Amino acid sequence: MRSILILNGPNLNLLGTRQPEVYGTTTLSDIEEMCRTYAQAIGVNVAFDQSNHEGDLVDALHAARGTHHGVVLNAGAYTHTSLALMDAISSIALPVIELHLSNVHAREEFRHNSFIAPVALGLICGFGARGYTLAMDALISHLEATE
Ligand code: DQA
Repeated sequence: MRSILILNGPNLNLLGTRQPEVYGTTTLSDIEEMCRTYAQAIGVNVAFDQSNHEGDLVDALHAARGTHHGVVLNAGAYTHTSLALMDAISSIALPVIELHLSNVHAREEFRHNSFIAPVALGLICGFGARGYTLAMDALISHLEATE
């Protein structure tokens, strides 16, 4: 069975109460539940993780090798700063989809740069919590087309 890791970075544990005008009121647990239900419906395995620490996210990407077939990554603010995450993605040879709840390109200029995008399979942003299942679909389609 295909297996996807959904990995969330800093401050995403606060979804639901964090800037609801930007990120909505859906909590990370709601999103996890949504992804698990969707994974069951389409017959894939899903693991869900979150960390506020850059090195933990690097470790989680490394650990995905041999365990999962692809990753959906919302790296939060590390998207815009982290060479370490970029290098980790380049090192693991797994398809990674960059995800953001908000449309980062319609926001402050410092959010327009991504260290993840050049090494990602693709990017989904601006669709709120729904982006997670869109990203799962995109990843599964990619895996089906390339395996
Ligand atoms: C975010 C966008 C980032 O710019 C921000 O730092 C986040 C959340 C999003 O999901 O819209 O923490 O990744």
